[in-house]
Amino acid sequence: MVQTSPGGLSARPHLPPRTGRALSLVMAGVLAMAGVISLAGPAEAVGTLGDAAAAKGRYFGTAVAANHLGEAQYASTLDAQFDSVTPENEMKWDAIEGTRDSFNFASADRIVDHAQSRGMKVRGHTLVWHSQLPGWVGGLGTADLRTAMNNHITQVMTHYKGKIDSWDVVNEAYQDGGSGARRSSPFQDKLGSGFIEEAFRTARTVDAGAKLCYNDYNTDGQNAKSNAVYAMVKDFKQRGVPIDCVGFQSHFNSNSPVPSDYRANLQRFADLGVDVQITELDIEGSGSAQAASYAAVVNACLAVSRCTGITVWGVTDKYSWRSSGTPLLFDGNYSRKPAYDAVLAALGGSTGGGGTGSCTAAFTRTATWNGGYNGEVTIKAGSAAISTWTVPVTVASPQKVTATWNGAPTWDTGGNVMTVRPTYNGNLAAGASTSFGFTVSTNGSTSTPVVGSCTAS
Ligand code: G3I
Repeated sequence: MVQTSPGGLSARPHLPPRTGRALSLVMAGVLAMAGVISLAGPAEAVGTLGDAAAAKGRYFGTAVAANHLGEAQYASTLDAQFDSVTPENEMKWDAIEGTRDSFNFASADRIVDHAQSRGMKVRGHTLVWHSQLPGWVGGLGTADLRTAMNNHITQVMTHYKGKIDSWDVVNEAYQDGGSGARRSSPFQDKLGSGFIEEAFRTARTVDAGAKLCYNDYNTDGQNAKSNAVYAMVKDFKQRGVPIDCVGFQSHFNSNSPVPSDYRANLQRFADLGVDVQITELDIEGSGSAQAASYAAVVNACLAVSRCTGITVWGVTDKYSWRSSGTPLLFDGNYSRKPAYDAVLAALGGSTGGGGTGSCTAAFTRTATWNGGYNGEVTIKAGSAAISTWTVPVTVASPQKVTATWNGAPTWDTGGNVMTVRPTYNGNLAAGASTSFGFTVSTNGSTSTPVVGSCTAS
């Protein structure tokens, strides 16, 4: 990703809300370079979502798509921030058993392997669902369908046995609206209401170590649909049908905001003797309103001791299933949104104030041509991990920076002093390095840019 500076052909880049602070940092940076003052670390949030949630005895996960794992910013944001993953589509019936008895685990395996090698939990999503169901399933007769359902559960859970924290055994089996009735599906229509119980009983026999969840949407507050799910879970617990958890998808927007009785609804399910999990959280909107809604969700989960974790439905707005609603914690450039800060704060993540992290910044000229050059600044964390860094760079007028990459610049008014912050690469382990780059149009000057002190937090 390349951002063009005011000196380039494109328009001045959109300045983020923190520009005021950024400009004062630029001024402070200039003064610091002149030896006038030393820079104090800004009050940035430190810590990660996964670490902060773990300190509260919860996980903080995200939906993941296998085909994005090769994107460096996607993977580094995932790895730095989250300690649980849910394959967004790769474990669904159509992805794994598109043809009867022919199982393809390749894409889901990529996600599970990625997670396991980094110590992340995996939520399995999902075994029995009316959607993303291959046509052959709907064409089966009753006896055959029963065999196919139990075989699908058995094969998939056997493949991932021991690797899955929680399985969404059955997904979205109830209708919306006031009926509280089951949704029509091949399973419901042919096997009858007992198909859910049968699916859970089969699942338990295959992997007794995985938690078995029922997962649904529009069940986040108390309403006819959640009442129907509640009655089913109560019945299962009374009769010993194996169920361990209920997933509340929590897809919110202005038409479907976080319900005022969200916590109470989670609590009444927990009181039945099951864990509750927030499984597909996303909240359309932006800025402080979106941040406040996210904080309300986190606070509700923290208030319910059996709310064991939160999963957001994607890493970045740009790959969200409803990206136009910008519902996630990181924007399309992997910058943290106010919603991120609100979630971290609600989880009790530290909000800076004298963190011990430090960093250094070193400049190299990586390419030179008639009229321009490319520069690279390598940032190295000191003896403690850091979660963000800030580096001021000054090019001598009439030089102009025309592009940057792997760093987000804010500008002074002249266009030759920029303060660069991470786009995706803020989290560095102790001693680890990252770099950002920029292109300079020399306009006749061959001066070397001045790279100021790196500030970490
Ligand atoms: O992979 C194909 C690609 O090859 C093709 O070119 C493209 C053209 O449309 O489609 C791609 O598949 C899409 C798939 O996402 C992967 O991007 C499907 O069309 C699309 O329907 C599918 O949408 C998924 C949706 O479930 C399907 O119901 C979303 O990504 C996924 O976020 C969403 O997740 C669901 C949960 O599983 C259950 N709860 C609701 C939630 C949101 O709808």
